[in-house]
Amino acid sequence: MLGNFSYYNPTKLYFGDESLNFLKDELKNYGPVVLLNYGGGSVKRNGIYDQVVAILKDAGKSVVENPGVMSNPTLEKLQEGIRIARDNKVDFILSLGGGSVCDYSKGVAASVYYDGDPWQKFYLNQQDPDEDQKIIPIGCILTMAGTGSEMNGGSVITDAENTFKVGHVFDSRLMPKFAILNPKFTYTVPPEQMRAGIFDIMSHIMEQYFSDEDDNTSDYLSEGLMRSLIVAARKAVKNPEDYEARSNIMWTATWALNTLIGMGKTQDWIVHMIGHSIGAWTHAPHGYALASVSIPYYKFVMPNGLPKFVRFAKNVWDICGKDKTDVQIAQEGLDALKNWMLEIGLPLTITELGATEEMLDGIVKGTVLYKAGYGDLKPEDVKNVLKASM
Ligand code: NZQ
Ligand code: ZN
Repeated sequence: MLGNFSYYNPTKLYFGDESLNFLKDELKNYGPVVLLNYGGGSVKRNGIYDQVVAILKDAGKSVVENPGVMSNPTLEKLQEGIRIARDNKVDFILSLGGGSVCDYSKGVAASVYYDGDPWQKFYLNQQDPDEDQKIIPIGCILTMAGTGSEMNGGSVITDAENTFKVGHVFDSRLMPKFAILNPKFTYTVPPEQMRAGIFDIMSHIMEQYFSDEDDNTSDYLSEGLMRSLIVAARKAVKNPEDYEARSNIMWTATWALNTLIGMGKTQDWIVHMIGHSIGAWTHAPHGYALASVSIPYYKFVMPNGLPKFVRFAKNVWDICGKDKTDVQIAQEGLDALKNWMLEIGLPLTITELGATEEMLDGIVKGTVLYKAGYGDLKPEDVKNVLKASM
């Protein structure tokens, strides 16, 4: 293990098909006015909204609704949520939806009692709220598995006007106080969103795994999570109502990005940096944007991290190394990843997402770069990765 670190995660999880029963008890810990953030209507169509509102009313809460939190939430919508929360002096924020609603709720919670420009401070300057600033507590009822937002401080917002998508990982004060994870709630997620979520999980694990050269417990945990995801994804794509598969996917998503497997690791996250910029330009689902560049990106950095790519091939994909060079083994690992992606129906090119040659310079410009993982990419390298994924 490298370096020194502290590990703390304050989010209490309730998991399983009866987990919503715990909402009532949790609500006792918070004040009477609840801001209910949700998305474009899926929770109304599948009945989850009715169940949640009934529990809120039963608990005597005054509910302020903020519907229409879109996928890849915008700065404009964030500002609207802050206004609603201020006008109604809300005590608690309940996020009902996927990662977008949960990320958004963190942005609102951090900003209501901040007098300055939250976009500038939290997202562009990457700062946290001051120690003495009041923060509204959040709870999360998750309806889609992927981001891990239910148990982390991440909040990704898109400035649509300037085609710029950026995330900030807030400190533990902005992590949900509790998260309710009912795998059955994910049954109605549209197939393309389910596949996007699955790849988002895989990408989160790979972003942490593909860094460093030491023997690190975190990497063994990552390999186990990836193996579980690969199996469960195959089953869920065939039968979206396979409870075992959906529950394994949901649990893996949470552990893929609640900071545990990043402990003692320098980590990478360049696929996410490129993916965010692709998302800002194409509005593609987050996981699709990541999928479209992953294979070309990993091929590009593989020579710098060959032993880890060999380990990935052997330990995650069961590639036999007999009579093969390390480069061959590593390449077969990436081929196995690609075949799995094809099997579950993921896009492998940015063209499929609507990206055009004319957008390339803009996507490169919107990609935040730094030395990380096994690479030290320059803008021209990003352009080459993008070209290779057309
Ligand atoms: O808006 P509604 O109608 O609810 O529809 C949503 C949305 O269109 C739908 N959906 C969700 N649950 C459903 C459902 N439809 C039917 N039944 C259900 N049970 O699915 C669509 C996608 O939802 P969204 O929340 O946007 O997806 P996801 O969970 O993938 O979140 C994506 C956002 O999270 C950010 C991404 O950048 C993106 O903005 N990320 C957050 C991270 C974090 N907090 O750590 C890390 C990630 O890397 C990621 O960047
Ligand atoms: Zn992600």
